[in-house]
Amino acid sequence: MTLSTKILPVSVSSITFEGNVPKIVDEVTKSNLDIAADEVKKPGHVVAFPTETVYGLGGSALCDESVRAIYAAKNRPADNPLIVHVSSHEQIERILLPQSHKIPAIYEKLIQKFWPGPLTILLPVEEGSPVSKLTTAGQNTVGVRMPLHPVARALIAQSDTPLAAPSANASTRPSPTIASHVYHDLNGRIPYILDGGACDVGVESTVVDGLTSPPMLLRPGGVSAEDIRKYGGGEWENLVMAKMTADKSEAVRTPGMKYRHYSPTAKVVLFSGCKDGNIAVKRWMQKSPERDPSKIALLRGASFSSAAELNLEGAIERHLGKNATEMAHNLFKMLREVDELGVSLILVEGVEETGDGLAVMNRLAKAAFEVVHATDEN
Ligand code: TXA
Ligand code: MG
Repeated sequence: MTLSTKILPVSVSSITFEGNVPKIVDEVTKSNLDIAADEVKKPGHVVAFPTETVYGLGGSALCDESVRAIYAAKNRPADNPLIVHVSSHEQIERILLPQSHKIPAIYEKLIQKFWPGPLTILLPVEEGSPVSKLTTAGQNTVGVRMPLHPVARALIAQSDTPLAAPSANASTRPSPTIASHVYHDLNGRIPYILDGGACDVGVESTVVDGLTSPPMLLRPGGVSAEDIRKYGGGEWENLVMAKMTADKSEAVRTPGMKYRHYSPTAKVVLFSGCKDGNIAVKRWMQKSPERDPSKIALLRGASFSSAAELNLEGAIERHLGKNATEMAHNLFKMLREVDELGVSLILVEGVEETGDGLAVMNRLAKAAFEVVHATDEN
């Protein structure tokens, strides 16, 4: 299907909430949200919208046709389950939990602390659940989150439709953090993009499973593992990391387990724990297939020397950030930016896997064609 994709601007600051009801003062924002809310209610229709993590591609989580349209627009493998986005607890209890009408108690403290926000929890799929089997990829749990972004919350509240929404990129590409990233990947494949500016966090939500004992971290993201352990209470202190690779026949519980993910066209080489890069980068470059510096990008964090100091004079140089939070915010945007400049090689400085660093390194490891680890010398 070829469509012309329309970008609908929305003003984030014009949206406030009285309880869970959005109040919108700007007329353009109001009418664009009306268009989007009507659209996501229609079977088989999808809309891209901003969240505080990345842009999502949303359609009704309750409708097979809509979920199929999401998978088709992204070209996403259908055994990768989708997260369902809600705007209130009431919506979860009424729609997603038709038997118990109650969110499992294990999540109480985490929800209080981190919702609305970048945390996804797994809930049981109860008897009579209206959630499409295509949303959950047939699993007996459903991932749910309540986004903080006013545009996302208003869209869900106004349509009263729980939205299945993966990141709004073409499958395998870096997730979109501004509307033009979505347009680049999905132009002609979706009707509308709500443009609410840049996403704050820059990487996807943290996904946790509290239904297993001990509880599991399925995907590191916008809420750190340390904070889950600290604020979750009880069993959450024993949080374990899920295995990050899957066999062909295994169900996908963490993204990128089975498939290439978050990748630009250029080859990404990740340097992990390599201090200022002087030994590791220079050594790697000796066997590099790319000799032309104008075809190389260097993404620096807090410690790497400049391109010139690393004998990469003429390379495209970007500062990812001075800490993991800034690096998370900039990561996908900069991977896309340098990719579009036509480089063939992207050398990236890693960061320690604590706090937001765990999510950054998780995304980079999945995007990377090679990971260079620190040795005694470098
Ligand atoms: O930040 C985010 O979470 C973004 C924005 C748009 O909200 N959304 C996002 O959604 O990343 P999505 O659908 O791409 O996330 C899917 C991942 C799966 O790969 C898996 O790790 C986990 O969420 N997931 C979802 N449902 C699951 C389930 N039933 N069991 C296990 N993992 C699940
Ligand atoms: Mg994604």
